[in-house]
Amino acid sequence: MFEMAPPLNLSKRELYRELVSAAGSLTDGEPDGVANMANLAALIWQFVPDLNWAGFYRMVDGELVLGPFCGKPACIRIPLGKGVCGTAAATGASQLVEDVHAFPGHIACDAASRSELVVPVIRGGRVIAVIDLDSPLPARFDTEDQAGIEALAALAADRI
Ligand code: SME
Repeated sequence: MFEMAPPLNLSKRELYRELVSAAGSLTDGEPDGVANMANLAALIWQFVPDLNWAGFYRMVDGELVLGPFCGKPACIRIPLGKGVCGTAAATGASQLVEDVHAFPGHIACDAASRSELVVPVIRGGRVIAVIDLDSPLPARFDTEDQAGIEALAALAADRI
């Protein structure tokens, strides 16, 4: 097992810098995308506090299909344009949702989720996956979380 817990008392920006650095080391030289997604989901889970779900949905034949994650079992297939994940995949834009109950078409995989951040993973101009973070706290995510997970998605693009 790798011990890659974040140092204590980091600012949010530093925490994501450490997370992306750890992600780079952990996936360096490993060509298996599933293994890398599994380790990246575990890293997010270890580094980012107050989550109840963190993981990947992959673009497969024009729809999102569940990938490696930490948290409770989740919906397996999400059509493009549906829910927060399907919206991120269809638009190629990150979705920062302060209140999931106010997001039209939000898909409630875990009833505990109150806020959500979904970031597309883009390779060669195409969305190949999304990274999805759920929190039981309302308005858990801000633009620093978004920038941090976008940096992680940029790294993941060549490694999953
Ligand atoms: N809430 C997401 C579905 C995936 S789960 O949160 C893991 C959505 O609306 O797309």
